[in-house]
Amino acid sequence: QANLETERIGCEVIYYAETDSTNLCAHELGKAGAPEGSVVLADSQIAGRGRLGRRWCSPPGVNLYASVLLRPPVAPRYASQLTFLSAAAVARTVAETGNLAATVKWPNDVLVGGRKIAGLLNELDAETEQIHYLVLGIGVNLNMRTEQFPEDLRYPATSMMLECGRKVSRLDFVRCLLRHLDHLYALYLSEGFPPVLAVWQQYFDLVGRSVEVDLQDRRIIGKVAGLDSDGALLLDLTDGTRERVLAGDVKPL
Ligand code: BTN
Repeated sequence: QANLETERIGCEVIYYAETDSTNLCAHELGKAGAPEGSVVLADSQIAGRGRLGRRWCSPPGVNLYASVLLRPPVAPRYASQLTFLSAAAVARTVAETGNLAATVKWPNDVLVGGRKIAGLLNELDAETEQIHYLVLGIGVNLNMRTEQFPEDLRYPATSMMLECGRKVSRLDFVRCLLRHLDHLYALYLSEGFPPVLAVWQQYFDLVGRSVEVDLQDRRIIGKVAGLDSDGALLLDLTDGTRERVLAGDVKPL
């Protein structure tokens, strides 16, 4: 096992050459009572899961596919706070290991130069008032070449190698990521959500920009005023009203 210098995250690390989905493996660990901080890594996934039921392209040898098991002592309605936490940790890691200007797309996804470099899929197992466990799924394009991206991507994508002009070490990247996750999760447990959101906001570059937000049933256009203390997006609409958006797909205009 790599010497991780972390307190919780990475207390157990399981590595697969190939698996269906590291998120599914982490669910099994969660149900089996594995400790919080357990991490599942895979070289490739045959059924990598993306958001909204999509697939996550997961070829071997080039990327990072990781899932982290957490048991945060908070009610299920706060689970989305952990999405900000993982996005902040990934953005920091991308920025540090590649010396890149990483940004976050609200509420998740990490971008470089407006192109997606990492996707996050957090999944919850909970009852009404209690989280049994939470899986933070993290996929980062590390050394993927242009021709390896699927042709039918719905968004522009990139990889660390394409941005840095050199290969990045998966081990160095994972070490750095687990360290940031560990640090931010310790901060979350001791001081709550505000300092974690503050870190996330360092990578958020849409304040003051006009965006289009795809809500389930309608589309709205407005200027990003900022975030409220829950991480909801505050949008100033053209009719002078302010809308608080809890979930939706944001596109800068
Ligand atoms: C997205 O659609 O943007 C989220 C993609 C999340 C992919 C990661 S890869 C590791 C983990 N295991 C999965 O099956 N999905 C997540």
